Amino acid sequence: MQNIEDVRSDLLSRIATSDNPRDLLKVAELKQLMGAITTLPAAERGAYGKKVNELKIALEAAVEARETAIEDSSVEPLDVTAPFDINAEKVSLLPTEQGSQHPLTTELENVVDIFTRMGFEAIESRQIDDDKHMFGTLNFHENHPARDGYDTFRTEEDFIPPAHTSTMQNRILLAGRDKLEAGGQIAAISYGRVFRNEDVDATHEHTFYQCEGVFVSKNATLGQMLGTLRSFFETYYGQKLKIKTQPAYFPFVEPGLEFAIEKPAALGGKPGEWLEMLGCGMIHPNVLKAADIDPNKYTGFAWGGGIERLVMLKYGIEDLRHFESGKLQFLRKF
Ligand code: DAH
Repeated sequence: MQNIEDVRSDLLSRIATSDNPRDLLKVAELKQLMGAITTLPAAERGAYGKKVNELKIALEAAVEARETAIEDSSVEPLDVTAPFDINAEKVSLLPTEQGSQHPLTTELENVVDIFTRMGFEAIESRQIDDDKHMFGTLNFHENHPARDGYDTFRTEEDFIPPAHTSTMQNRILLAGRDKLEAGGQIAAISYGRVFRNEDVDATHEHTFYQCEGVFVSKNATLGQMLGTLRSFFETYYGQKLKIKTQPAYFPFVEPGLEFAIEKPAALGGKPGEWLEMLGCGMIHPNVLKAADIDPNKYTGFAWGGGIERLVMLKYGIEDLRHFESGKLQFLRKF
């Protein structure tokens, strides 16, 4: 019996520090203790067997506790206060089980991926911009009433957190002008955050995401634009869709249109239930001129719309505010 106690305290202390604690359940001392039972007088076997059994249970519990401790210590805690060293060989990332990508980021990547595969170059939009790009180069003259429709924020220095991704149009056109002159075409999308001074409710946010598209060539047509948009939406929703347009006014396109899809039955839609997805049209000659592109030689189309709306339809999300709520219950669904 004394032997059992000795083996117990020896093994328990070794298990507590071992890297392979389970191996210690196979040591010779333990086998000897178990084998010894047959050498005992019949009257002592019951009490001895019980003690050995208790020892086995205690050792097994100690091994399991040690294994859990080893597993836990292999997940490096993240030091959020550590300085970020761009040259570090190993950048420690948040272990995946402690977080995941936000659904809007995933879906935005999805959108960018589809357009990239269709041949569009993708450029992230700026998050601080100016009057010239927000309005001037987009054919809103100084006192244009349509400026009010954008509920723009302004900094004290008169910079503007962009209220739409159309702010990138002039830059895309300027950057692509040489390509046009060389006989090519401009095909680019711009995606990113936009900001509006709006009251927040189930369908309005002050901060949201948009994606803008611009295409210019010697003979771009409205038909090509509708084909491009149909193709995008059918790929995104993975099914054939009914589409329609209706006239709309935006200073930077002529004609300007709103583009709608019929809510697919698979996503809970009824026939005749149309959802407006984005604004689009043929790029206004003044917008081409603002980038030194001759509207008599080239034509283009552009479109722009929100990302949240796409995602809400895809997943049946009824309230826009869920996205930024930080509610894990919502985020874990993705
Ligand atoms: N920028 C517009 C908005 O946010 C949407 C838009 C309409 C973009 C027509 C376009 C366009 O490129 O052609 O309301």
